[in-house]
Amino acid sequence: MAESVTDLLRQAEVFSRLPEPALRKIGKILRERRVAQHQVLFRQGEPADALFVIIAGRVRISIAGPGGEEKVLAFLGTGDVVGEMGLLSGETRSATATASTNLVVLQLRKVDFDALLTNNVDLMRELARVVARRREATRQRAAQEAEDGQGRGQGMVSVLFAPRGGAGTTTLTTNLAVALAHRAPDHVALVDLNVLFGHVPLLLNLSPRTSLAAISPVSLGQMDRDSFEFYLTTHAASSLRVLSGVLRPEEGELITAAHVRSALELLRRHFTYVIVDTARGFSDVNLTAFELASNILIVCTADRVGIRAVTESQRIFRELLHFPGDPLQYVLNHPSPYVAVSPQQLGQTLQAQFVGSIPFGGDTPTRAALEGQPMVTRWPNSAVSKAIVSLAARFEQQSREAVALSGALAPVSS
Ligand SMILES: Nc1ncnc2c1ncn2[C@@H]1O[C@H](COP(=O)(O)OP(=O)(O)OP(=O)(O)O)[C@@H](O)[C@H]1O
Ligand SMILES: [Mg+2]
Repeated sequence: MAESVTDLLRQAEVFSRLPEPALRKIGKILRERRVAQHQVLFRQGEPADALFVIIAGRVRISIAGPGGEEKVLAFLGTGDVVGEMGLLSGETRSATATASTNLVVLQLRKVDFDALLTNNVDLMRELARVVARRREATRQRAAQEAEDGQGRGQGMVSVLFAPRGGAGTTTLTTNLAVALAHRAPDHVALVDLNVLFGHVPLLLNLSPRTSLAAISPVSLGQMDRDSFEFYLTTHAASSLRVLSGVLRPEEGELITAAHVRSALELLRRHFTYVIVDTARGFSDVNLTAFELASNILIVCTADRVGIRAVTESQRIFRELLHFPGDPLQYVLNHPSPYVAVSPQQLGQTLQAQFVGSIPFGGDTPTRAALEGQPMVTRWPNSAVSKAIVSLAARFEQQSREAVALSGALAPVSS
């Protein structure tokens, strides 16, 4: 393993605040285990004899429905702890944990754990806190589901946003959308909410005939997919549908929050992925897009101005906007060859893990833009394109997990 065991443990919420000596003690009694995809880590009803810290891979938590079908409750990934509830309460497992990818975990056995707890008050307190928070989250989700039953069959709305200009947001949005459209033809829409100088159509060599500004929010609310197609421009090479906010800068003020809401609600009913490019700032247009987003991807750059802008935005999201859940994700882009801060340092400053890191691509992104061809098609083997394609794969996984979580009773996979 590249990182030390204590570093890995610190990534797990439950252990994150423990002092170094306590972490080292725990580290000594953990055992590394590898679990192949589809294998069961533990089963509902079994005695709880261990907890696991996920080092790499994803775990699906599920319970059996009335007819024995699998009902998925959650997906957990690197740094998450699995199975601590039963371990604390001494009850049997309340759910089944299955490796949804190949998995590396650290196992903490109950016998060793009990011995450790008796002489570690800090750990005890910390675990109690995490368990209480998990219970509350589960309760809230159940209440929410009972109330609206929404989310079922809804596409994933992903908003890309950079608080500083020139971070590469439009380049990333466009290429990510094209990469997704290659994987899911006819299921991806891209919305250009740069209501002043949007240039998504230029990057794709498209000439939209109309725009969101030309429709009234009321008629948007009543439109079906066929009539809405008229407002979308198809990028023939990838099948991607593009919706431009405006055709001309002076139309910018015609776009209201109501437009954005109706358009995104309509699009997510008909597309698996709705990818949104935004301009800088916390305008009404952006706030509405954030509100409807399944995930908000903050595009970061490794320079001081960029970092400052991102930390300030984090404060605004946290203190003023209070979106439910945890929609913020971070991607690191390198629009210039200069790196003022290392990715590790950056991750620490922002207290964030990056879902992707896009290297500097020299002049290729700009050349691709001039030619009106997306990078991922023009230079599919470049490091930039590969990084964007793996981001698309990650989105795909996230979307699959969201579908599983939306309550669909999927047949149990072997
Ligand atoms: N990884 C990269 N490597 C090299 N050049 C890049 C990279 N990412 C973006 N660029 C270039 O940086 C410039 C700015 O990119 P882009 O227009 O996508 O940024 P933006 O965040 O959308 O900017 P704006 O604030 O104007 O909306 C473009 O010329 C683009 O080709
Ligand atoms: Mg842009």
